[in-house]
Amino acid sequence: MKFFIDTANLNEIKEAQDLGILDGVTTNPSLMAKEGITGEDNIMAHYKAICNIVDNNVSAEVIATDYEGMISEAKTLSQIDRKIVVKIPMIKDGIKAIRYLADEDIRTNCTLVFSAGQAILAAKAGASYVSPFIGRIDDVSGDGVQLIEQIVLIFKNYEFKTEVLAASIRHNLHLIQCAEIGAHVATCPYKVIIGLLNHPLTDKGLAQFLADHKKAQQTAELA
Ligand code: G3P
Repeated sequence: MKFFIDTANLNEIKEAQDLGILDGVTTNPSLMAKEGITGEDNIMAHYKAICNIVDNNVSAEVIATDYEGMISEAKTLSQIDRKIVVKIPMIKDGIKAIRYLADEDIRTNCTLVFSAGQAILAAKAGASYVSPFIGRIDDVSGDGVQLIEQIVLIFKNYEFKTEVLAASIRHNLHLIQCAEIGAHVATCPYKVIIGLLNHPLTDKGLAQFLADHKKAQQTAELA
């Protein structure tokens, strides 16, 4: 399973990269705005800074919603660095753009996917990744993890090369459930990645080991 971090915050990306477990980064216009990144030059420079931290797979989203506009933006984004994956929204012109970009060997991540039908269309068009937003499905009383399971099965049935990228992951259980059902990628906020470290029995066990070691040392020194 690939681990991506879902943020545009350079410190969080560096921290996750330093752990040695990171396979990529996903961003979106909301995450870029959260970091206060505005203006085309700053946005491009920020994507380049992210590419300089990680080894591969930096999703950068187009703003245009028409075919020509998306193609033009995709070409600009893909020229920033070979690590860029162009994020394209799941709309009619987006599907056409994904097909064009696949034929040009430009990798794409089809975003804002909320149904298996949308995922099939994106895979047929040649998307490298599809991003179902599981937390947002849960928000409206659906079952986001079940959608991931359905799409993984469909892609397996037809040997689609498109990878299922579980997005809008809100907590550790989402991540574990996605791993159980074979999602190819999970993109998580930093707090979810770090949260995987935590278990009270680990803390308790380590404290005990260190206390026993110290006690044995003291006993040896007194002997
Ligand atoms: O990867 C998509 C993600 O950024 C959306 O997450 O929590 O805003 O639904 P959320």
